[in-house]
Amino acid sequence: MCSVRQLTLLVVLHSPLVHSFIPSPALRAATVDTSQLAAGMPQQVHIALTKKNTEMSATWVTFEEVNQQINFRQLSTTKMYTNNAETTKFVNPTGVIRYVHRAVMTGLTPGESYAYQVGRQGYLSKEFVFKQLSLQPPYNILVFGDLGVYKGESIPSMLQDAEEKAYDLIVTVGDYAYDLFSNNGTTGDQFFATLEPLFATVPFMVVAGNHEAEEQWAANYTTYRNSFTMPEEGYGDNQFYSFDVGPIHFIGLSSEYYGFYYIYGMDPVFNQYDWLVKDLQASNKNRDTRPWIFSYSHRPFYCSNDYNDECNTFENQLVRDGFLEMPGLEQIFYDQGVDITFWGHMHSYERFLPRTPSAKETADPYNNPAGPIYFISGSAGCHNNHATFGDPDEYSAARNSEFGYTRVFVPNSTHIRFEQYSVEHDAIVDSVWISKDRQTPFTKDTKVDDAIICHPKDMHCHKRRKAGRQFQIKH
Ligand SMILES: *[C@@H]1O[C@H](CO)[C@@H](O)[C@H](O)[C@H]1NC(C)=O
Ligand SMILES: *[C@@H]1O[C@H](CO)[C@@H](O)[C@H](O)[C@H]1NC(C)=O
Ligand SMILES: *[C@@H]1O[C@H](CO)[C@@H](O)[C@H](O)[C@H]1NC(C)=O
Ligand SMILES: [Fe+2]
Repeated sequence: MCSVRQLTLLVVLHSPLVHSFIPSPALRAATVDTSQLAAGMPQQVHIALTKKNTEMSATWVTFEEVNQQINFRQLSTTKMYTNNAETTKFVNPTGVIRYVHRAVMTGLTPGESYAYQVGRQGYLSKEFVFKQLSLQPPYNILVFGDLGVYKGESIPSMLQDAEEKAYDLIVTVGDYAYDLFSNNGTTGDQFFATLEPLFATVPFMVVAGNHEAEEQWAANYTTYRNSFTMPEEGYGDNQFYSFDVGPIHFIGLSSEYYGFYYIYGMDPVFNQYDWLVKDLQASNKNRDTRPWIFSYSHRPFYCSNDYNDECNTFENQLVRDGFLEMPGLEQIFYDQGVDITFWGHMHSYERFLPRTPSAKETADPYNNPAGPIYFISGSAGCHNNHATFGDPDEYSAARNSEFGYTRVFVPNSTHIRFEQYSVEHDAIVDSVWISKDRQTPFTKDTKVDDAIICHPKDMHCHKRRKAGRQFQIKH
């Protein structure tokens, strides 16, 4: 979040914490200044998965209009392949021009390592190495949200992890750099340049947070759109998409399409929901080979932070419950058996018990969970201080507000470990194994044919669905 309300309060009080904040020496040492680079030098390289497990996309920036290529080779060989980049002239909301280059490395073999450079003759980036995701576990996944650069207290530790090749994949939940567009976009430049050793060597998957919406210019997420290349679902949109990692089907979603519908309209919500229904139905047919479904988006359905009304603002409720013709996400997550969801927006960590429409499970809730399990991981280092907590939500199982991030370890297709790492204490502050051998959606409280899927614009169907709604809104 970093809500306006909270910021106003801090400014009014002249909070000594905010004004005296000094980035740690490690963070200051890690921060990269890009302003001295030649305009034609490629910078801010980051890679991401595509829909194919034999490809990896790369995205980077120059400040001059130049043709760019990507040169890549399997690490163990010298045979070099070259693909051309597609270039977009990107004029940011304050009028500054950048050239965004996108290229795809093709014909890769899962599980193999590759080296690559981007740029052109005489102006090449350094050589980066990544491992193409294996088809089978084990996997180590980094999850984080709400990471700035000025106060990005997790950055030195993440860069250390990158050096140790600790991760196969990075999944994030929005609010990058605070903000990508700030200071004519130089805040975003610094964020990408500082984290390049991580983002250029591990596929970095993103969704939009409220700080990416650029609603003050009605600029339609333009910096986000031009900064990231996500798997293409045929909508020309990088805010919702899915991909597979061994036993897990991942779905990235935009909560911001709900949050800013009053500026950008409802169509993005309908497009995303239509697509989501199809994507979930297809992945449910495939549970034998891919038993887990994970989703991630920015604003939580639930939280128990002090600024609790943040979790109960109109916008957050509408992501969960829908509004007018817009269907919310909670019911479909339950009906279609989304196992795990990550959120950010609150600048803390919170783990919830499996969320079911009826009473919560108590005996062994993490083995064959009866409903979706939600995690908030928004404590990577926003632009303000530790979040504080209020009364716990009735499903809240663990909370921590120290700066840090989440690590997910997937040893095989039945067991997954989630742990919260505090960079402040160099310690694991929460850890849980979730296991399942059931390969169907939740069956406990709902029959599958109770799950009426409506066209979101079909008001008649939608009203019936609302009437039969199983989750109650709590105030
Ligand atoms: C942004 O760019 C404009 C035009 O180049 C310049 O006048 C302004 O000072 C810049 N603002 C910041 C915050 O750098
Ligand atoms: C925002 O951008 C998307 C993608 O370019 C486009 O489809 C959509 O119509 C735009 N929305 C508005 C309100 O400009
Ligand atoms: C999967 O990993 C867990 C945790 O290490 C282990 O207990 C379990 O036996 C493994 N399952 C299989 C089928 O290897
Ligand atoms: Fe946020």
